[in-house]
Formats: sequence, C-alpha cells, structure tokens
Amino acid sequence: MSQHPTLRLDRLLGNLGYGSRREIANMAARGRVRLDGAALRDAELRLPLNADTAARLTIDGEPVDPLPGVLLMLHKPVGVTCSHKEAGPLVFRLLPERWQRRDPAISAIGRLDKDTSGLLLLTDDGAFLHQIISPRRHIPKRYAATLDRPLRGDEAAVFASGELTLESEKTPLLPAALEIVDEREVVVTLTEGRYHQVRRMFAAVGNHVVALRRLSVGGLTLPDDLKPGEFAVLGESGRTAALNGGEGHSPHN
Ligand code: URA
Repeated sequence: MSQHPTLRLDRLLGNLGYGSRREIANMAARGRVRLDGAALRDAELRLPLNADTAARLTIDGEPVDPLPGVLLMLHKPVGVTCSHKEAGPLVFRLLPERWQRRDPAISAIGRLDKDTSGLLLLTDDGAFLHQIISPRRHIPKRYAATLDRPLRGDEAAVFASGELTLESEKTPLLPAALEIVDEREVVVTLTEGRYHQVRRMFAAVGNHVVALRRLSVGGLTLPDDLKPGEFAVLGESGRTAALNGGEGHSPHN
C-alpha cells in the first residue's frame, strides 16, 4: 500500500475548483485529465498525493493548480481590502476565478489596510497561517512609509523605547526600529501587528502617513518584478523564509 495519502480524482479536482463531480467525470471520460501523459478516464480513481502530483497531472495539457497547502505572495494594490467583513473590492478577487472556489479556501495571513500596498501572504494551510500570525513568534515586518510632515527628530527613540502606548490601548508597543531614508521617507520594522499600527504610531508623534507599503514579512521580500495585483506561488523555501525572518528571500531565489 502507498504510504502517501490518496484522494479520489473527482474530489481532488473538485476541491481545486475545477467543477462538480459530474463535470469532472465528463472531463476524465473524454480523456482531458492525464497523469504522466496517460488519460485517467475513471474520476473515482484514487491518486496518491505526492509532492509532484500537481506537476504530473494535467487538464487539457496544462498542469493542475497547486494542491492544498499552497502559499502565495501577493503584491496587494492600494484600494482592495483583505477582510470579507469590509465593503469594496477584495484581495481574493485578484486570484484566478477557479482559485476562489478552492476548498480549503485561500485566506490572507494577517491583513493590510485598504490604503496600504505591498507584500501579503495568502494560504489555505490553517496551521501555517497561525504560525505566522502567532504573537509569540515576533516575525519582523518591514514597511516603507511616506510622511506628510518632516520627522521631528525623536521618532526613532520613541518607537524603540517599548513605552509608546497607542490611543485607546493599555499595553505599550514592543520596540520598533525606524530607518530614516530622508525627512519624509522611512522604513519601520514591527514585530507585532496591531490595528493600523504604523499609521497610529506616526499619529502618536504628530505626523501622518500618506503612503504605506509592506516590503517584507520575515525573510520574504517583495520582488521588484511582482507588480501590484500580481502573485507568485512560493515553495518550501518560501515557507521557511517567512517563518525564520532570516536571510532575504524572494520567489526567484
Ligand atoms: N500598519 C498600518 O497602519 N496598516 C497596515 O496595513 C499595516 C501596518
């Protein structure tokens, strides 16, 4: 017996959004579904779920979408929301329509506010999602902010102090690092994720963020060639990089 888990072909493709059980049975019967080039005409066949199953399985000659356990890096544009609870266009609509029908569904790992752009991770792997957002992990996230007014001078010390408490909160923020690019351009590194944190931090020091972009999460950096609205599928090294917060990593290395 195979030591890999198996799943019926119709269930596997149904969960990836390829259609109903009947539609998949029809596709298979017509020879459109192939494994290593050989037609799989029986949609009730059980397939082993190996790491390479998605690459070997094709529909109309195209490899099937990544199997469950997928991790995506999306360049979130300004103007789309991460939460189903808010009105307006959703980040999930940037994914191909079929991917929006997947079960388990693809969710955002944490959130960026509607007016913030940049690196957003998405996954259907709940355990991985919780590892990344766990407050115990302190995964660093870097944000580039453009400010309305020039820096006044004490911001880096205030953010690093571990004593700044945001309005309507009781617990002070963990120390955050501020890199100054010029008097209105900064990079902030946070190791926690409170609501609208960067914007509220600058409001607390008498400034206002006019543009905010997330540059990295852990060791994953948004590559220059991933344009707003585009996404990349990350492999195992992407997962490790996101969790480690170590060396810089993009989908290309
Ligand atoms: N800080 C913010 O203000 N907004 C975000 O989306 C993320 C961090």
